[in-house]
Amino acid sequence: MSGQRVLQVEGLDVSVGRRGLLHDVTFSIDRGERVGLIGESGSGKSLTGLAVLGLLPEDVHARGTVALAGVDGNLLELDERRLSHIRGREVAMVFQEPMTALNPTSRVGDQVAEAILLHRRCSRGEARRAAVELLDQVALPAPAEAARAYPHQLSGGQRQRVVLAIALANDPELLVCDEPTTALDVTVQALVLDLVVRGVTARDSALLFITHDLSVVATVCERVLVMYGGRIVEAGPVEEVFRRPRHRYTQGLLEASDLEQAQEHTRLRTIPGSVPPAGRFPAGCVFRNRCTHATRECETLPPWTGPSPEQGYACFHPAHETAQVGS
Ligand SMILES: Nc1ncnc2c1ncn2[C@@H]1O[C@H](COP(=O)(O)OP(=O)(O)O)[C@@H](O)[C@H]1O
Ligand code: SF4
Ligand SMILES: [Mg+2]
Repeated sequence: MSGQRVLQVEGLDVSVGRRGLLHDVTFSIDRGERVGLIGESGSGKSLTGLAVLGLLPEDVHARGTVALAGVDGNLLELDERRLSHIRGREVAMVFQEPMTALNPTSRVGDQVAEAILLHRRCSRGEARRAAVELLDQVALPAPAEAARAYPHQLSGGQRQRVVLAIALANDPELLVCDEPTTALDVTVQALVLDLVVRGVTARDSALLFITHDLSVVATVCERVLVMYGGRIVEAGPVEEVFRRPRHRYTQGLLEASDLEQAQEHTRLRTIPGSVPPAGRFPAGCVFRNRCTHATRECETLPPWTGPSPEQGYACFHPAHETAQVGS
């Protein structure tokens, strides 16, 4: 991997028995880059995040490579002992439900200090002071007092900020967030998103941000990967993809989002049909059974069109074709 590259995922296939869950997922993230992974529920976003964290469930079979800066070898092939050293240091995570990451019987300051002591040589006192400093960075009011609180004494938004403090404690190369603000109300959500951006920017960490919410991606990320049916169907700079989506799935997502409603004052449209269960997506283009532009050609797998895995789309009849010719 080049010096700037933090994460490189190549040809990632994940399956359970004969059911394919992820297909040929390929992307990379450089130092300091913030990349969004979007798609409807059931598209394969969380599985992709778990693969990157070496946290795939035991019953799934994974092929391909996941390479992380500072780690020798393919993450998919490392044993749990190696992975536990990497997690929290090279790569850290924030999930939707903060209580799954916190210990209900331990003070939050101690939990942050523990995370520091796990990967750093310092005294307990130093770790405690660093913990208070981290709680201050995630905007917990009166951080020294907050450090003595138990998780149940904090609000949902405060708990998620403690989880973020733990995730940032060892200056990870990569932070993976999976719907971290979905359970929070809108004003708290804005604060947490801002803290995530500030946290990774201050550390020059790479960010993989998973969400079904396009407006969140527009706020947080500079690049986006659009996932459907366990495949990346489109990728590119957020501004470009949102302004001029090419894949018909991306176009549908945008038309169904508040983002587009806000711009065009139109009524909420939805993508026709629903996401099939894993393994039940059509052959050829995975979006074929819901796409109003589908032709016979779409019964074969659309090739990737674009200069790199970071920019392009896989669609036979892309949107904005004429706009491109004319511009
Ligand atoms: N351990 C598993 N065994 C079988 N199917 C799974 C497993 N984990 C996830 N899936 C299926 O894989 C698909 C993608 O799941 P997921 O990555 O959680 O989607 P998303 O995060 O985009 O909502 C879903 O259909 C889900 O039911
Ligand atoms: S490849 Fe065909 S079915 Fe798939 S999104 Fe494009 S037009 Fe629709
Ligand atoms: Mg998910």
